[in-house]
Amino acid sequence: MTDKVKERTRISDEIRYAGFDDTGLEIFESQYPTEGISYNSYVILDEKIAVMDTVDARGTEAYFENLKEILGDKKPSYLVIQHMEPDHAANIGKLAEMYPDMQLIGSAAAGKMVSQFFESDLQDRFHAVKENETLSLGKHVLQFIMAPMVHWPEVMVTYEQTEKVLFSADAFGTFGALENDEEWIEDASHYYFNIVGKYGAQVQALLKKASGLDIAVIAPLHGPVHKDDIKMVVDTYDKWSSYEPAREGIFMPFASIHGNTKRAVLQFAKELEEMGETVITMDLTKEDVSEAVEQAFLYDRIIFASSTYDLEIFPVMNDLLHHLKIKNFQKRKVGLIENGSWAPSAAKKMREYLENMKDIEIAEPVITIRSTRKPSDDDNFRALAEAMKR
Ligand SMILES: Cc1cc2nc3c(=O)[nH]c(=O)nc-3n(C[C@H](O)[C@H](O)[C@H](O)COP(=O)(O)O)c2cc1C
Ligand SMILES: [Fe+2]
Ligand SMILES: [Fe+2]
Repeated sequence: MTDKVKERTRISDEIRYAGFDDTGLEIFESQYPTEGISYNSYVILDEKIAVMDTVDARGTEAYFENLKEILGDKKPSYLVIQHMEPDHAANIGKLAEMYPDMQLIGSAAAGKMVSQFFESDLQDRFHAVKENETLSLGKHVLQFIMAPMVHWPEVMVTYEQTEKVLFSADAFGTFGALENDEEWIEDASHYYFNIVGKYGAQVQALLKKASGLDIAVIAPLHGPVHKDDIKMVVDTYDKWSSYEPAREGIFMPFASIHGNTKRAVLQFAKELEEMGETVITMDLTKEDVSEAVEQAFLYDRIIFASSTYDLEIFPVMNDLLHHLKIKNFQKRKVGLIENGSWAPSAAKKMREYLENMKDIEIAEPVITIRSTRKPSDDDNFRALAEAMKR
């Protein structure tokens, strides 16, 4: 473990970091481009020892070395399973095999998944905990708090009462290896909106429960441990999970086959900027869709621009709208621009997506370009610019 990893995950002499900083990972969950990620696991040393989650299979070797260094000959009494997704749960079987007397602790839903992912005899060693149930390790006391759908249904978080540490599962996590030493906020919105974004209501429910706790440290399953920035990360999550835009400006993703839609968008962006707007354009044929999902959630207004393709939305734009639909996108003003040479139909199809989302206001006019933008289109663009004002 490098000094940087130690520095960014340090909690105390008794609550130790055992995770794996996966600096080599390029794609997380088979779809999100990232410069590494960490799978965090912690060990609480006390009369009885608890291990908090395990790590992804990519980190098995390093993980067991870390555990050996922390535990020596001592044996953990408990493995607390907060989340059964394989990026944290992959090594449950191996750890349980190594310590046959270790009990597994988790929600009832996690118990069912343990049998799905591993040998069924682990069931006999599984203790399902209830909301606010406590477990004393000696000096440290664990309090279990259910957080269903803060990524998966079996998720719970754990509050350690003595050192006031909230083990927060995927909540407050981020992409990026610890070694990169990026500020949390740099990657956290990319992580949040793509991984947890759909579950705003459930994150709000967790924040409400957490507001009753005195929290000195937040220890998530990915990214750095939070100590001095707790108010900032909690306030940020409060805003994001209520679907309030974090930034003022117009995000304008575009999908262009031969470049004519792109030219129209870039010209319009310049005109909007001359009116004093902040504009962020994104070529969906070049950027990953998860980057566009993040920006769409961050900004207060979005203009979608797409060429028509076989009477449909050009696929990269269709993909973005599909992602926004499944991620519960809502509460935004949007504009639409389509391009077509004989039967423009992208706008109608984009509208169908957006009309089925909650609290989406579609600004008029919806603009149709016929192959290229002409001076005769200027009035329409001016009218859309007016309609998109805050
Ligand atoms: C494979 C393909 C399918 C297309 N399908 C349609 C269509 O169904 N209806 C239409 O009006 N235009 C269609 N077009 C034309 C484009 O939408 C039109 O030329 C547009 O100006 C392209 O803008 P761009 O330069 O930004 O790609 C199609 C173009 C291609 C290459
Ligand atoms: Fe997860
Ligand atoms: Fe995770």
